[in-house]
Amino acid sequence: MMKRLQPAIPLLCFHLLLSAARGSQPPHIVFILADDYGWNDVGYHGSVIRTPVLDKLSAQGVRLENYYVQPLCTPSRSQLLTGRYQIHTGFQHEIIWPCQPHCLPLDEKLLPQLLKEAGYSTHMVGKWHLGMYKKECLPTRRGFDSYFGYLLGSENYYTHERCYHIAPLNITRCALDLRDGEEVATGFTGIYSGHLFPQRAVDLLSKHNPARPLFLYLALQSVHEPLQVPEEYMEPYNFIHDADRRHYAGMVSVMDEAVGNITDALQRYGFWNNTVLIFSTDNGGQTLGGGNNWPLRGRKWTLWEGGVRGVGFVTSPLLKQKGRVNQEFIHISDWLPTLVHLAEGSTNGTKPLDGFDVWKTISEGHSSPRNELLHNIDPLFVDNSPCPVSLNENATSSVQLNKWQYSLFNVSIHAAIRSGDWKLLTGYPGCSYWFPPPSSSNQSQPAPPDSPKKNLWLFNIANDPDETVDLSDRYPVIVEKLLSRLQYYQDGAVPIVYPDDDPKCDPDKAGAWGPWA
Ligand SMILES: *[C@@H]1O[C@H](CO)[C@@H](O)[C@H](O)[C@H]1NC(C)=O
Ligand SMILES: *[C@@H]1O[C@H](CO)[C@@H](O)[C@H](O)[C@H]1NC(C)=O
Ligand SMILES: *[C@@H]1O[C@H](CO)[C@@H](O)[C@H](O)[C@H]1NC(C)=O
Ligand SMILES: *[C@@H]1O[C@H](CO)[C@@H](O)[C@H](O)[C@H]1NC(C)=O
Repeated sequence: MMKRLQPAIPLLCFHLLLSAARGSQPPHIVFILADDYGWNDVGYHGSVIRTPVLDKLSAQGVRLENYYVQPLCTPSRSQLLTGRYQIHTGFQHEIIWPCQPHCLPLDEKLLPQLLKEAGYSTHMVGKWHLGMYKKECLPTRRGFDSYFGYLLGSENYYTHERCYHIAPLNITRCALDLRDGEEVATGFTGIYSGHLFPQRAVDLLSKHNPARPLFLYLALQSVHEPLQVPEEYMEPYNFIHDADRRHYAGMVSVMDEAVGNITDALQRYGFWNNTVLIFSTDNGGQTLGGGNNWPLRGRKWTLWEGGVRGVGFVTSPLLKQKGRVNQEFIHISDWLPTLVHLAEGSTNGTKPLDGFDVWKTISEGHSSPRNELLHNIDPLFVDNSPCPVSLNENATSSVQLNKWQYSLFNVSIHAAIRSGDWKLLTGYPGCSYWFPPPSSSNQSQPAPPDSPKKNLWLFNIANDPDETVDLSDRYPVIVEKLLSRLQYYQDGAVPIVYPDDDPKCDPDKAGAWGPWA
């Protein structure tokens, strides 16, 4: 006997009925985002750091070896949740600092909202870093049913405090940054974040009914600075003489164990056979904080490959082809359309997407629908972090302004773009060195990079992933084409949003960082 659907029936039930009718439900989606995890910091890239869990899970799934992220935290996270380039959201410049009255634009429809519309239960654990100056910006107002984590970045792993110098007040404040939903979460002092957040995710899985599709976004604090880790995780790395690297290696081991605990819980609680698990870094490793991207050039904050080529893999019983190394061109902005389609949802309501649905590329080995990638255009870029001094720094024989200077695109601007195998960089891309892993025995000095006046490079990344041979003189037609593409993107860019610190952010009275407006 057929029962008529009541018009008032909630969307969720409708989706469950549809799934029941199909005899299957869309997969659980677990997205684990590591923080500042470098290319040379995973076992399967030959690192001295041991990552047995990541090695095994990725070997059973698909390793993404031509996978790109953004060079910084807020930008990568913004693209993950919107499917859109920073030039379209105003996030071209740096990150959201604690006192900036700014957040991911409220008219952007986010991945968790879309999955919720598709009938998912949506949960986030860990680092937000997409703005919090008013309540409307919080994860629980942007599509997540539940949230446990911190809203800023760089906190202490034990006190969960963030210290920040509030420029307009000329005062440094240290305050708690930890929330359960929208409430300040006290009582976690002394509990190491590398354990706290994964444990919270495991708890969540233990309580969730696998009959309802789940989206779990676990944005780990590991392995960002400060370099803090329980002693026992460092012991296996006593052979690493560099203290930063040794701490960092221990932090990676905690993270590896955490990913193991999550996958164990997915199996124990009956999720695994219908789960797609994605592991990704948010940007390249920070060599100033123990990370390493060797043999790639540069590091976090730069547009060199060391900043943007990311560690990533997908593992799932649902993959059609498993145990593959995938060399297709994939970007962090591709997850939104990919995951929404996997969830049998709709991207209706988003603004024009820059990402592509790459599920068939990952699962079946089809060629990627993506041929081009705008890494970024940031006319305000500065990089003041310590970078080895170039031998050429004081060279009087300046490189002449190159012949592109006044042509199709203002090449003094920090920008980079990929088209097929070609990558063009302009302006100052950020610290230009190759950093050998600190533990390597024959510690070579970094090779002197180019003259500081040089401001245009063309590389064939397929042949030269380490960006050693500039081909711009040999392929002027390709340079011209890519400069035109940069100008095309710049013409469509929204203005950068980068407000001054608002002194009202001061957490002194509230006792914790949080919405103030
Ligand atoms: C900020 O405070 C420090 C001492 O706390 C002082 O030395 C400095 O001059 C102050 N800067 C400004 C711009 O007022
Ligand atoms: C993983 O789970 C074990 C057993 O519950 C626990 O002792 C360990 O601390 C967990 N590790 C992490 C990184 O959460
Ligand atoms: C997963 O396992 C459950 C319980 O064993 C079963 O009912 C379901 O059909 C399985 N799903 C898939 C996709 O294999
Ligand atoms: C998209 O959403 C709008 C407003 O919610 C609705 O009117 C429209 O029918 C939807 N379109 C599709 C293709 O689902």
